[in-house]
Amino acid sequence: MTEGSVRSVVVIGAGIMGRGIALASARAGYKTAVIEPNPASLQSARAEIEKILDRALEKTEIDEPTARAARERLTYAAGFDAAQGADLAIEAVPESVAIKAKVYGQLAPRIAREGVIATNTSSLSITELAATSDRPARFLGMHFFNPVHRMRLVELVRGIETGDHALAIGEQAARAMGKETVLVRESPGFVTSRINVLIGNEAFTMLESGVASARDIDKALKLGLNHPMGPFELVDLVGLDTRLSILEYLHRMLGDKYRPSPLLIQYVKAGRLGRKVGRGVYEYPS
Ligand SMILES: NC(=O)c1ccc[n+]([C@@H]2O[C@H](COP(=O)([O-])OP(=O)(O)OC[C@H]3O[C@@H](n4cnc5c(N)ncnc54)[C@H](O)[C@@H]3O)[C@@H](O)[C@H]2O)c1
Repeated sequence: MTEGSVRSVVVIGAGIMGRGIALASARAGYKTAVIEPNPASLQSARAEIEKILDRALEKTEIDEPTARAARERLTYAAGFDAAQGADLAIEAVPESVAIKAKVYGQLAPRIAREGVIATNTSSLSITELAATSDRPARFLGMHFFNPVHRMRLVELVRGIETGDHALAIGEQAARAMGKETVLVRESPGFVTSRINVLIGNEAFTMLESGVASARDIDKALKLGLNHPMGPFELVDLVGLDTRLSILEYLHRMLGDKYRPSPLLIQYVKAGRLGRKVGRGVYEYPS
């Protein structure tokens, strides 16, 4: 990588977020490799990327040559050799320090020596994650939002060792993907998760104590507070398990006001994880 430029990106993890980030990266003009060890996830990521491109074509948001160019920039792989020489690695694997650290270990000998690693973590410490990598100064948080192709923000998160160059690369890539950025000094949950999970947790507490139905709580926030989605519609999209792990972390870091609602815990135990499994707070018949 010449100082200050990105040409190739590798996205690790092709779940809810990774697939959207990979498409945004390819549409930004970057050669983009997607690494996903689970064959079913890899296949469904590819199918969903195709579907989003097809829908954008139908709506004439993009033309055929643009869609084709984006497709041609994408490659899909199960193994880490696909990360070879990448200028920017964007990690979107599950919210666990151990899983993420293992990924950084596999990236270290493969991505460009000057390459930057970005994590899409919703809540974990950038400083702690960076310290498990071989390049804490070239490590930052790039917090994308779901669904990536619709949401306009990326929070750029600076850990204690994050250097200006890493932030500049994060800013450059986010802008090329058509996103706005805000700069956040590392703190648990950054700006958005820290506020959003409180709203979502309170909604579960209200549902549990019978204040209103899920539909009416969603309706109240949409029509009364102008939220584009209700808190239950949103948590079904995000994944109840993902939301619970963020709350547990913020509870440990910031105290009792983040204690997860018992009802949310029950939903997760029941396997009601959201849209991804066909049922969460609501049912999604296939
Ligand atoms: N879901 C959201 O709305 C959302 C929003 C912003 C940020 N995030 C964050 O993004 C990250 C990913 O979340 P998600 O919702 O996409 O999770 P997900 O469970 O949908 O996807 C994670 C993917 O990573 C894959 N994976 C697991 N181990 C791997 C490894 N060692 N190498 C490569 N791939 C591996 C899994 O097979 C899975 O496909 C998490 O840190 C989460 O906190 C999630």
